[in-house]
Amino acid sequence: MKTRAVYPGTFDPVTNGHIDLIERGAALFDYLHVAILGNADKTPLFSIEERVEMLEEAVKRYRNVSVTTFEGLLVDYAEKIGASVIVRGIRAVSDYEYELQMAMMNRRLSSRVETVFMMPAEAYSYLSSRLVKEISQLGGSVRGLVPPGVERRLKIRKSKKR
Ligand code: PNS
Repeated sequence: MKTRAVYPGTFDPVTNGHIDLIERGAALFDYLHVAILGNADKTPLFSIEERVEMLEEAVKRYRNVSVTTFEGLLVDYAEKIGASVIVRGIRAVSDYEYELQMAMMNRRLSSRVETVFMMPAEAYSYLSSRLVKEISQLGGSVRGLVPPGVERRLKIRKSKKR
């Protein structure tokens, strides 16, 4: 049986840490759906359309990866698309508490979907979308931390703000 997995997140913006995890997930599962949450409470820097575009550009080399958006409960979305696995990345112990809470709650909401934690390469263990945005807004370089298309868009954002 083919295993379909969903990798959910805000991806505002996608980083090379996310891409590293997508590559690992794509090697492990038959299909990987990268699912961007559309109705998050936080105000994002990039619109949902821009985030889809950046992710699609960055994952087009993986034939079993697709980019989608979702609203509402993650487990409902996973069941709707036939995904039996939720992939989440854990960078450090500090991520674990929040991730465990979410995984347990999702398990309570649906026993048909299993959460799988994966670790990105060590080089990305301190990388986050939040830090990338902060560095870029303050004029620092994010080269090597994000896909080229994201770096380009961050620069455009910064120059428009001035
Ligand atoms: O990248 P993020 O912001 O840490 O991703 C969080 C995300 C999108 C995975 C989480 O907020 C989520 O699943 N939201 C959907 C609503 C939901 O299912 N909430 C209950 C989770 S226990």
